[in-house]
Amino acid sequence: MKSKKYTIVTYGCQMNEHDSEKISWILENMGYIWTDDKEDSDFIIYNTCLVRENAELKVYGQLGALKDLKRKNPDLILAVCGCMMQREEIRNIILRKYRHVDIIFGTGNIHKLPQLINRYHQSNETVVDVVEDNREIVENIDANRKYSFKAYVNVMYGCNNFCTYCIVPYTRGRERSREPENIIEEVRSLAERGYKEITLLGQNVNSYGKTLSYDYTFANLLEDINKIDGIKRIRFMTSHPKDLSDELIEAMASLDKVCEHLHLPIQSGSSRILKVMNRKYTKEDYLRLVEKIRNRIPDIALTTDIIVGFPGETEEDFNETLEIVKKVEYDSAFTFLYSIREGTIAARMENQIPDDIKQERFQRLLDTLYPIFYKKNLKYQDKVVEVLVEEVSKNNEKVLTGRTRHGKLVHFEGDKKLIGQLVDVKIDNVKTFTLEGHII
Ligand code: 5AD
Ligand code: SF4
Repeated sequence: MKSKKYTIVTYGCQMNEHDSEKISWILENMGYIWTDDKEDSDFIIYNTCLVRENAELKVYGQLGALKDLKRKNPDLILAVCGCMMQREEIRNIILRKYRHVDIIFGTGNIHKLPQLINRYHQSNETVVDVVEDNREIVENIDANRKYSFKAYVNVMYGCNNFCTYCIVPYTRGRERSREPENIIEEVRSLAERGYKEITLLGQNVNSYGKTLSYDYTFANLLEDINKIDGIKRIRFMTSHPKDLSDELIEAMASLDKVCEHLHLPIQSGSSRILKVMNRKYTKEDYLRLVEKIRNRIPDIALTTDIIVGFPGETEEDFNETLEIVKKVEYDSAFTFLYSIREGTIAARMENQIPDDIKQERFQRLLDTLYPIFYKKNLKYQDKVVEVLVEEVSKNNEKVLTGRTRHGKLVHFEGDKKLIGQLVDVKIDNVKTFTLEGHII
């Protein structure tokens, strides 16, 4: 019998990307094979994101466009999963307006996909299966990972922080940590299969361990993973500034495999706005933390997330954000226009900022950030850096791309056989977002 083909379209964060890798593993175990071509697919899954409105709107657009395909190929199964599906009001929109969707599932029941497909085949009616309170941790699902040398590994799920702008605590549920032995076993098995780089994933990895029945911290986990032979680099994200402990800074400084890169979202440089965001630190706390980290790990690369136009943000508040990015001198940053998320506290705040002001501030923020990124990259000029080779450049097939321990993207000429290897590259030229060099 001809194998059925599937495709997954993924929106959002690394957590979602990794969930899609798990879905892919489940489907391939059922005999499905991957295709890039929707027209040629028997099964299409959208793994959705709700963190900002544009991600949400894209999904509706895509689903609308698939109506024709479904009409042409009635055997095609169309599934939607991920954060959007955790919200009842959104599930209702899908059920009402996008009747060609066959299976709806959430972030907590990926492992049930084979059953859901069966149920759909038996009933031929839309199957909806979502776990609202998301407490369970499901082990024993492997992932069909995108790369064979670097891997995401979940360490915890959910978030308890309730930053007032953020929908994640409502879609991914309460914080819960995986048992260390399960994480360590997964990393060990990845190392045996030749994986060199691990990125530990959680909404707030610094509070890892709080739900375990014994004392074990994220720093302890890093120590244990650092001992695993074959693993060369350990990364993690995301860290909440309020929870970043001295113990973790010490672990980062002393463990040789933990990369010299920290993603430390600041969100705003105004202590007043940070308070309304419920971030639980002030501008001064953040700056003190950065100083402490840089004292212990002087060449650490710092990256961040910044939201522009949170409700009530004044010109003075925004100027404080510009000031702090100049003070900290980030290596890179993800910048976002504040987006109203129904169900969050900030969505009900009255002093929403008009779009044109948000846009104008956003542009000023980028104009401030880009020269800083360039300046930070300049220190690599003529230096030799270790690069994990990731892929052939999309623009030039002779050029390879990879990342340094500091998370810098590097372009250099080389044979694609080097993909997955660690190579030394001398930097000849630096740009705002990339370094260029040659292998030595
Ligand atoms: N609007 C804009 N950005 C947001 N983020 C989370 N929620 C929102 C929102 N409602 C950003 C934060 C977070 C990152 C993952 O997404 O900066 O750190
Ligand atoms: Fe959202 Fe804040 Fe939790 Fe991050 S820490 S996922 S921004 S609520």
